[in-house]
Amino acid sequence: MIQNTFFSLEAYHHDLEDLFARHQAAVVEKHFAEAFTLLKHYRSALECHAQEEEQELFPILHAFAGVPPGGSVEQFKAEHKKLFELFDAVEKRFQEAAANASPAPLIALIEEEARYKGLYEHHVMREHNVLFPMLDRVLGDTERARVLANCTMRVADTGESLVPRPKGHDAIVLAK
Ligand SMILES: [Fe+2]
Ligand SMILES: [Fe+2]
Repeated sequence: MIQNTFFSLEAYHHDLEDLFARHQAAVVEKHFAEAFTLLKHYRSALECHAQEEEQELFPILHAFAGVPPGGSVEQFKAEHKKLFELFDAVEKRFQEAAANASPAPLIALIEEEARYKGLYEHHVMREHNVLFPMLDRVLGDTERARVLANCTMRVADTGESLVPRPKGHDAIVLAK
């Protein structure tokens, strides 16, 4: 068992999933103000996570010659771009659902969110199967610790984590 494994970053994936699940629970309850806050917070957290990966992890991958098929930086970056495109569509559908009490826009939102989640799950599975094992292999323990210390999901000016583990339904610290 190695120390400082990149698989520790999966805790952030789980936190993101918790946040999205809380957003969806609020949608189902038609608590649109809460659902909107959670959706905005989720986007900030996702942006932070993707940015940390692109700044801290992908350059290491780029320098590594033995990248297996499907493991290139370009492919991971393209997935991030596509995730944000689908998320833009979710936000648009959300606005429509929140502004209209009829079932059709709500159904369209649920379907758009399912599309987004499908790609998200595919992406984090590829990070699990390809990205994290590769990074664990190519870096020594000290280097892994150094890189992981830069992946904290914390807001620079306050030091608050964007995805603190929710205890029940405790208030979360919202991104500005
Ligand atoms: Fe990613
Ligand atoms: Fe990730």
